[in-house]
Amino acid sequence: MKKLAIIGLGFIGETVIDAIISQKIDFEIQAIYDINEKVLKKVQRHLKNVRIMKNLTDFSDCDVVIECAVQSVVEEIFDKVLEDNIYFIPMSIGAFVTNESLYLKYQNLDEEKKKLILLPSGAIGGFDSIDAIALEGLNSVLLETRKPYHVFEKSAYAIKNGIKLDKNKETIIFEGNAKEAAKEFPRSINVAARLSLATLGREKTRVRILSDPLINQNIHRVFIESNVGLYEFTFKNKPSPSNPKTSWLAALSLISFLKKIQ
Ligand SMILES: NC(=O)c1ccc[n+]([C@@H]2O[C@H](COP(=O)([O-])OP(=O)(O)OC[C@H]3O[C@@H](n4cnc5c(N)ncnc54)[C@H](O)[C@@H]3O)[C@@H](O)[C@H]2O)c1
Repeated sequence: MKKLAIIGLGFIGETVIDAIISQKIDFEIQAIYDINEKVLKKVQRHLKNVRIMKNLTDFSDCDVVIECAVQSVVEEIFDKVLEDNIYFIPMSIGAFVTNESLYLKYQNLDEEKKKLILLPSGAIGGFDSIDAIALEGLNSVLLETRKPYHVFEKSAYAIKNGIKLDKNKETIIFEGNAKEAAKEFPRSINVAARLSLATLGREKTRVRILSDPLINQNIHRVFIESNVGLYEFTFKNKPSPSNPKTSWLAALSLISFLKKIQ
């Protein structure tokens, strides 16, 4: 049975632990870590024989490391994971777009090492088709993300750029590429990052963000133009039960991904 290290024990980390305890997936939880001592102790009480990691890179005895904490953790452990030759599943995928050196390191990995970095689909999907379409080349890729009006009501970006939100209809908040989106919206870049890594990269993958007073959930739309055809994927995600900032689907994508490699 494969041994897991789980870094970050919030909504996604707990969902993985619950899936293992309830035997939806078959892994041994070898080591856990969270910056919050209280959370760490609480989770440890539910797990027999689990080791609390001494630091973020104390995972050499594991087969798979899951990061579900924050982007900075991805940066901190990336080299050690490759050095140890173990699988790494980062959930804070935005790190690969916001951090220049990490982006270049990832892009320049040799094929064997790249196979160690496993990227779950997260809050969107369709990557089986997207990967297939990409084999024939992609002409354009656009991610359109709509969020409820209240999300942008006090947005620093909207205020800084003099964007007047309309209470009755949609307002475009941002248009640019994934790299620029990452700079302006670092906390909500995971979807754009996952899409850009699978398609045209940070500079050529376009991102549009809208405020939409007629919705009460985040909606992601992916538009792809290619010689193979025209594609539109829509994802209307519900937030997770315990963390409104995280789509429920993101945690489930990790569980179904783990099922495939167990
Ligand atoms: N790939 C995707 O599509 C996708 C979708 C949703 C969320 N995410 C990302 O996944 C990550 C986890 O999401 P979540 O909903 O479980 O978050 P959460 O806030 O519920 O839990 C995060 C946990 O990480 C811990 N943590 C914070 N900083 C840490 C550090 N430096 N070292 C160790 N632990 C640390 C926190 O104490 C917390 O317990 C976030 O970065 C989020 O942006 C990715």
